[in-house]
Amino acid sequence: MKVLVLDSPDEVGKKSLEFLRGPRIAVSGGSTFLELFRIWMPEVKRKAATGEGLRFFPVDERKVPFEDPDSNWRVCYEGLLQPAGLTGQREHRAISAPQYAAMLEREFGVGPVVFDSVFLGMGKDGHTASLFPGAGAIRDRKSIVLDVIGPKPPPQRITLGLKPLWDCKTLVAIAIGSSKAEVVRRLREGDPELPITMALAGHGNAVLLLDKAAAGAV
Ligand code: 6PG
Repeated sequence: MKVLVLDSPDEVGKKSLEFLRGPRIAVSGGSTFLELFRIWMPEVKRKAATGEGLRFFPVDERKVPFEDPDSNWRVCYEGLLQPAGLTGQREHRAISAPQYAAMLEREFGVGPVVFDSVFLGMGKDGHTASLFPGAGAIRDRKSIVLDVIGPKPPPQRITLGLKPLWDCKTLVAIAIGSSKAEVVRRLREGDPELPITMALAGHGNAVLLLDKAAAGAV
């Protein structure tokens, strides 16, 4: 795992653009990505205008209506896709594991689901995507997509499993702020209880982007 520590959240956002490799990109939700989408949008819009077809998909989604502020895909659509002119990708929303798995099969064909890049956040408890500590989903090394119940509200979720996280070409995890310093410390020590540790260790060539606060350097 390659660890890069940047001075500020804005620098982390700019650095993350270097790993935004298409065409097929999976992105997470939460406040970290709300901010990332703002930084990414001009570049994604420019790429779209020049015909570089970036295609975005959710790493995970909450089972709420698209209009609900808790919908990850609504946050991605309003903060990134719509302003970048990628309105057609509103339909990449995950509604259930079978529905999303079928969408990915249409996208990737019958072969393996290999995203060009996948971007993960992490919770203070060490969850990533909607893979939570101690959950059965973290022992599932085969499923592409899973329906899960998680402790982080809203509880009913759809998530990519470990396999597509491990199979992707570029896997990037991002943590920003002092509230993530403890989980980042546990991750860097290789705590096997943390789904974020399993996700990054299983990939073998993952990148961890941190600001100084999350790195415990302030
Ligand atoms: C979700 C997210 C989740 C998120 C982390 C970090 O649906 O909740 O995909 O995995 O990335 O919980 O969230 P914050 O960036 O808000 O701390």
